[in-house]
Amino acid sequence: MKRNDEMHTITPKFPKMLHGGDYNPEQWLEYPDVLEEDIRLMKQAHINCVSLGIFAWAKLEPCENEFDFGWLDTIIDRLWQAGIYVDLATPSGARPHWLADKYPEVLRVAEDGTRNLFGHRHNHCFTSPVYREKVRIIDTELAKRYASHPAVIMWHISNEFSGDCRCPMCKAAFREFLKAKYSTLDKLNHEWWANFWSHTYTSWEQIDPPSYKGETAIHGLDLDWKRFVTHQTADFMRAEIAAVRSIDPDIPVTANFMGMYFDGLDYYELGRDVDVISWDSYPEWHAPLGNDVIAMHESLSHDMMRSIKKQPFLLMECTPSTTNWRSISKLKKPGMHKLSIVNAIAHGADSAMYFQIRQSRGSAEKFHSAVISHTGTSDTRTFREVTEVGEMLEKISDRIYGSSSPAEAAIIFEPQSKWALDKAQGPRNAGLDYFGAIQRCYHYFWANGINVDIVNEDADISGYKLVVMPMLYLWREGFGDRLRTFVNGGGTLISTVFSGIVNENDLCFLGEATEEKLSDVMGYWVEETDSLYDGEVNSIVYKGKEYKLTELCEVIRPTTCDTVAVYGNDYYKDTPAVTANRFGDGTAYHIAANAPQEFFDAFIADAAPELKRAVNTDIPRGVSVTLREGENGESYIFVQNFLDTEQTLTLDGSYTDIVSGAACSDKLILEGYGSAILSTYQES
Ligand code: GLA
Ligand code: ZN
Repeated sequence: MKRNDEMHTITPKFPKMLHGGDYNPEQWLEYPDVLEEDIRLMKQAHINCVSLGIFAWAKLEPCENEFDFGWLDTIIDRLWQAGIYVDLATPSGARPHWLADKYPEVLRVAEDGTRNLFGHRHNHCFTSPVYREKVRIIDTELAKRYASHPAVIMWHISNEFSGDCRCPMCKAAFREFLKAKYSTLDKLNHEWWANFWSHTYTSWEQIDPPSYKGETAIHGLDLDWKRFVTHQTADFMRAEIAAVRSIDPDIPVTANFMGMYFDGLDYYELGRDVDVISWDSYPEWHAPLGNDVIAMHESLSHDMMRSIKKQPFLLMECTPSTTNWRSISKLKKPGMHKLSIVNAIAHGADSAMYFQIRQSRGSAEKFHSAVISHTGTSDTRTFREVTEVGEMLEKISDRIYGSSSPAEAAIIFEPQSKWALDKAQGPRNAGLDYFGAIQRCYHYFWANGINVDIVNEDADISGYKLVVMPMLYLWREGFGDRLRTFVNGGGTLISTVFSGIVNENDLCFLGEATEEKLSDVMGYWVEETDSLYDGEVNSIVYKGKEYKLTELCEVIRPTTCDTVAVYGNDYYKDTPAVTANRFGDGTAYHIAANAPQEFFDAFIADAAPELKRAVNTDIPRGVSVTLREGENGESYIFVQNFLDTEQTLTLDGSYTDIVSGAACSDKLILEGYGSAILSTYQES
């Protein structure tokens, strides 16, 4: 049973589900009536928190060292009078003209070696001492002025950190990063296999970032450059965090991440430095893929964000209806907004925050939807649906806020492995779909109401019953040993094709049965790997049903494993395609080719040990059921229908619908895009 003091509190000053979003009053200072109206409309929509000042540097410091906080004072005070809290941003995501004009070094140098012009946002060098100093000054001034304001509950550090810079200062910092890692050039040349094509480095100054105009063949260089970008971004972020904490160490900090599918940064590493994980979720609802598939993909990303800290996270941005940046920007159909919010909360979010509160009048985002559109009225479908979410959050906050997402299974997702796999050059440059490999396994959990964590190789996996490891190409030091201990101790491991191929510097493991390769645990070794043309298939028969195999087929040499299924075609017909090996008290399974989702649905059901389900009944296709657990052992069951037709879920007990208060047992009928949040709590 969970104790109260274990409950996670994201924002101690205001421990409630947050409802609100990005608010950019700096665009509207010449429209005082609009600003006043905004507050009235926010109250009407049950908004209780706004992210403020994200891109406001030019208004906060119009000239170097001349600050103007008057307008922000007024706005924060007005918000506070209205009972609206503030997630106050540092403005480093975009810089004023004067800064780039006077100090051009703050602008990024691109891969072709040329410096960017002023413009865009997120266009700054993370190394530049001038940029860091200017950011430190404005961050400190903001913290001095507002840290003790009762409305300010959190710092929003910068905005969507991303990208890299190849200026001389970044190159120098990269070389220092490498010196700290390898100490000697001999070691670096070995770990990067740089004697290949005579690319041997004879001085540190020869090392440049990878570039399409220069070095692309040294894969260790590529991997370390990506690690450096995360390292340098984290270092920059830490400097910002230090600035605001120097004034008040108790206000939590967050930085809005971009979810699992943004692969420019290793969020498991960046996440260590923030108090709260938050992220910006923009699924392409109503795209031809189908809303249930889109929901499954997005749920995976929510689960990954939650798993970084194994704590509730904030949905920092999503759109109230449409974005403006897709090739075709589609509205959310009626009901989809609330459903997408319930989905985020189901997977661990403690907020519904939007981009943005009021729609810009001009410039690049004028057609992005907002809570308050250009019409300025609350009499819109979007405004009503946002208000409905606000009302719902108020009803569920006392129970859901801070509740946990217990998981007995984990899927390993390793961003560093993806970086290496993407550059592997063979066996199949036409595409190895790493995210697809994960999604095809994840679907089983999603469709069966089983919570699953999405963790990286550093995670402590000892507490899980089941670990699934789809296409985990790169293994960092120590990971193989942790897997061995896990299986030996009774865990179930399911690995899939092209796992455990290279070490952390992208050097292939040597030997057919080395300890590192875990051949003892798996009970086989791989002799060769065949690539299939697009459209070409092999097959297996599993429990009387045939499944098509694509992309890669490993030709397996069994040692101690049992054969679960064999290949149906080609010269390796009848050799093992699916294996099982008992090791210690556990079992390790391997699927040696790229198998379809339907196979994993069937196979994981058989191979997995008993795992806790949100509901012990059959879940209709297109419906997702997820569990959170509150203090005192209360369970919360989130039921979501991603189809546009009515669906019925059979219930396994008596529940209370915590939004409507109605008692609920036997059956739950959900309209198209309908959702319900049920609790085991009963009114006594
Ligand atoms: C991102 C940014 C926001 C805004 C939205 C638009 O998430 O953080 O500033 O540009 O996209 O969807
Ligand atoms: Zn730079």
